[in-house]
Amino acid sequence: MKILGIESSCDETAAAVVEDGRHIISNVVATQIPFHEEFRGVVPEIASRKHAEWILPVVQQALAEAHLSMDDIDGIAATNKPGLMGSLLVGLTFGKTLAWSLNKPFIAVNHMLGHLYAAHLSEDIAYPYLGLLVSGGHCIICRVENFDDITVLGTTVDDAPGEAFDKVAKFYGFGYPGGVIIDKLAQQGDPAAARFPVPSLHKGEHRYDVSYSGLKTAVINQIDQFWNPDFPKTPENISAAFQDTAVKILLSRLLRAAEDTGLTTVVAGGGVAANSLLRAKLAEHSELRCIFPPLKLCTDNGAMIAGVGYQYLKRGDRSPYDITASARIPQFKRGLKNR
Ligand code: KG4
Ligand code: ZN
Repeated sequence: MKILGIESSCDETAAAVVEDGRHIISNVVATQIPFHEEFRGVVPEIASRKHAEWILPVVQQALAEAHLSMDDIDGIAATNKPGLMGSLLVGLTFGKTLAWSLNKPFIAVNHMLGHLYAAHLSEDIAYPYLGLLVSGGHCIICRVENFDDITVLGTTVDDAPGEAFDKVAKFYGFGYPGGVIIDKLAQQGDPAAARFPVPSLHKGEHRYDVSYSGLKTAVINQIDQFWNPDFPKTPENISAAFQDTAVKILLSRLLRAAEDTGLTTVVAGGGVAANSLLRAKLAEHSELRCIFPPLKLCTDNGAMIAGVGYQYLKRGDRSPYDITASARIPQFKRGLKNR
């Protein structure tokens, strides 16, 4: 089964063709970063206009690179939540219209399930496992029973980790998007340059929750309080010290969840899963099998959407043509199943 996957939830216009939920035949990502860079963040109005302009050529390129026509496509999948409303609507409406006009099966896909599926495109992974979804908008530690059956154990009580990377980079003028730039700068810096506070571990139902607003405030507004004066306050040192704490926060909750659940496989996904320190620190835990998608599949792409789409369509699931987009996923709450 060859599935066309379409992704337009934020600032990447993306389409891919994936066979049997595993083999990526083509994967085209048109990034809008240069258009949002001068504003140091995604401008929703610009994003939806660019998606509208690019969606057809991006889908055409995905088919051309796969040496396929729409006749060869067995089903179409498009992201319908969560994300920027105007952006989501472009890819979703395009996908639904294409499916309706060609009488092909259509399925709407939750972007976060896509991020979780990205690792499955390159590895055989048995369920259940512990999922770590870390992106610009989300932070979810979850128990995963199937591609569409996740139970949220912990989430962020304020900012998402990617958001913290982006805000620190924006404040210090490092560039946009912040995650990948801080990751690079940090490699030349010393994490000992500052000792930012790590929020203490909660108890009870919040025991796996993370918080990033304290770290963000410490780095942006109170840096002198935590800085070691023996170190120069360079972008490299600021990045290294911030990133070190950001990863520590995430790891403390994840390791606690692994210990409590007894799950020994961790599957990461989302833009922050590309972070080199997070990858290195998790690799030190030999008691866990940690699986990260290849870097290109950590950030937004159509292949992960096609992969989830395949799993639904294979099972006989279809979305109605009147399905719409949702900016948020209200059911992504702790303890709830997300089918
Ligand atoms: O998954 P994604 O492409 O879009 C969302 O669904 O949010 O994630 C984008 C986020 C941004 O906040 C970006 O700064 C962050 O992922 N990111 C990184 C790295 N690469 C991207 N954060 C830390 N280290 C990286 N190497
Ligand atoms: Zn994403």
